[in-house]
Amino acid sequence: MDKFLIKGPSTLKGEVLISGSKNAALPILASTLLFDKPVVIKNLPRVRDINTMLNLLKSLGSKIEFFDNRKKVRISKSKKPKYFASYSLLKTMRAGILVLGPLVSKCQKSITSFPGGCVLNGNSGRPINLHLNALEKIGMKYEIKKGYIYARSKGNLKGKSLKFPSISVGATQHLIMSSVLSDGKATTLKNCAIEPEVLDLTNFLKNAGANIKWIGKRTCQIIGVNSLNEISYSVMGDRIETGTFCVAATLTKGNLLIKGFDPKLIKTELDLLKKTGATIRLFKDQIHIKGPKKIKKISHIKTKEYGGFPTDCQPQFMVLMCKANGKSEITENIFKSRFMHAMELQRLGAKISIKNSKATIEGNTNFIGAEVMSSDLRASAALILAAIAAKGTSIVSRVYHCDRGYENIEKKLKKVGAKIRRVN
Ligand code: UD1
Repeated sequence: MDKFLIKGPSTLKGEVLISGSKNAALPILASTLLFDKPVVIKNLPRVRDINTMLNLLKSLGSKIEFFDNRKKVRISKSKKPKYFASYSLLKTMRAGILVLGPLVSKCQKSITSFPGGCVLNGNSGRPINLHLNALEKIGMKYEIKKGYIYARSKGNLKGKSLKFPSISVGATQHLIMSSVLSDGKATTLKNCAIEPEVLDLTNFLKNAGANIKWIGKRTCQIIGVNSLNEISYSVMGDRIETGTFCVAATLTKGNLLIKGFDPKLIKTELDLLKKTGATIRLFKDQIHIKGPKKIKKISHIKTKEYGGFPTDCQPQFMVLMCKANGKSEITENIFKSRFMHAMELQRLGAKISIKNSKATIEGNTNFIGAEVMSSDLRASAALILAAIAAKGTSIVSRVYHCDRGYENIEKKLKKVGAKIRRVN
């Protein structure tokens, strides 16, 4: 298993090019199962989850051709699509569940394994009840046997009005893509997630001829069409990678020009970084950010659905709050027990106490290098940031978590001055 050897502290300076968004690309790739004509997807990040999704599509009969050093793919449908999504492909990646609806929509049947992915919610796990209940409402019947969902529908899925009992990014994406080819009246989805990655999926589908309209802040209406058109689409930049590099600059008194992402989409995060004293200048698809000499505290961060502060940036901001000049708190509202990184940060000298879904962070920490272990994707980013800010050598193990979602993180960090090396 690979590890990162990091010598700190370093001040990060230079330019960073943000990769395509993993969380936007995964649902877009899953929705290619709905097409009869070829689809070209560009700006794919070269990360493990994308490879897993492409292997999953291949196992379902799609033909994949790679271009531009694997950043661009052309996906064509096979004449004989398959409908079995295996445990071996879904066990490491939660977004694999997103093939279920498109398979039922196109083939009227599917056998799909329960998905795996980051363990973010302690014993509560990461259920898929919102996906299954909503798909059932639009005409999918299913039963669960030996870890697999055996699903089918009588004819096409049917347009229906439904309200999600709580907001879910994945369930919203899943229902939108599964409704695009539905029969009958319109599907109206209420209480939808409106994360930029959801909107990137709807843009992609609309450009291919789907009839999707936002008719309220969280209400989406889809009128089924017979088929989707050939399309070439470029995936948006990665919102969480951008947030991670903005924290990196702020944390290390750095000076980074971050390219390839629309700053308007992370206004909440940038406003908080301004409060810490960072100097930020915004351009079209670029952010210039300089860290302050002393990081001012942010009193309280509460994670929330978009518009609010993203749970996927919570671990990275926790590192910043450790270094800030005073006590602060984080309330995690999306994955109530997403604090595994806090224990590891303590090995580097952080003082953090956790009670239920609230973390209290003492601040004024001078991180000291140590051996730490990543527990999930964003936790690994937090540990890498803390190690770059720490005095001495740190070893961050289990970086396979990081490789699932950050493209070439060590190369990008090294280029701007971090002393980081992959060892195994
Ligand atoms: C997506 C992102 C993930 C991010 C999360 C929240 C991808 C591939 N992953 O995950 O990085 O952290 O959004 O922004 O895009 N829930 C249920 N039942 C369900 C589905 C979800 O109870 O069927 C709960 C979850 O446990 C969680 C909350 O709803 O507490 C939100 O999860 P959701 O928005 O669905 O996250 P994902 O789509 O899995």
